[in-house]
Amino acid sequence: MKTEDYTGGDAFQIEKRTVFSGDWLPLCAEAQIGRPGDFLAASVGGWSVFGVRDGEGVVRVLRNACRHQNMQVVGTPSGNCQSFRCRFHGWTYDLQGRFLSAPAPVAPKDPQSADLHLASLATTTVAGIVFFSLSSPPAIAGIDADLPAYGGTSVTDIACNWKVCVEHLLAEHEPSPDFLWRWPLLSVRQAGSLVIVEQVVPHTFLRTRLFTHVFGGAVDEHAQAAGLIKQACEQLQADRASGVMCAKDSTLVADFHRRLASVYAQEAAAT
Ligand code: FES
Repeated sequence: MKTEDYTGGDAFQIEKRTVFSGDWLPLCAEAQIGRPGDFLAASVGGWSVFGVRDGEGVVRVLRNACRHQNMQVVGTPSGNCQSFRCRFHGWTYDLQGRFLSAPAPVAPKDPQSADLHLASLATTTVAGIVFFSLSSPPAIAGIDADLPAYGGTSVTDIACNWKVCVEHLLAEHEPSPDFLWRWPLLSVRQAGSLVIVEQVVPHTFLRTRLFTHVFGGAVDEHAQAAGLIKQACEQLQADRASGVMCAKDSTLVADFHRRLASVYAQEAAAT
């Protein structure tokens, strides 16, 4: 890996087209959108999406791009609503993303057209986590679906590239029954009766959000650990920016780099 892979927008754009376009990406814990009308919006690897539980209790992931002029329909990170009204010119959508109405001056010619609905993405829920995909990858395998009760999610904003955060999460572990890494953005760790799911959300090339989902315990007890992760990742980002690469190359970090190198090589061959 090179410094610019951690500090430049170009690498992030390549990753958006490759890493984040061809596989299942985690969006949130299903319990974060537990009631009809609950929604959670995020930019994941450059893709602006939101998850919503519709009136029938079905979880959907939709592109957060209005069909009028492609602006973001959902402008708040999370909440509960009956419908979505785009704040720019007032196009309105139901909880399944179907176009409902628009003010007369900006009304579409054919309000019945299916092209007016928000784009719906492939969605699946595994082990309490909602995943979405821009493509149609094979079903998710290898994550134990039998988790203890959901205890909550802590959210940590970190000033680092997403790869630094993944490396930090992987560096302390070797593959084992108690630690699973699911390419590219999720790890599952068993600690006694607790299960900790760390979900990396690549927001921009220098901003990463970490969701720590706790199953089988209270999330408050993990606030300190999240603070330490933030501190460590921001120091590692400073190291990468000054040319200091990963010092501790665990099996999992090496595997992560191997997969990244393969993706970069495929992209280079295709251009
Ligand atoms: S961009 Fe959404 S209503 Fe115009």
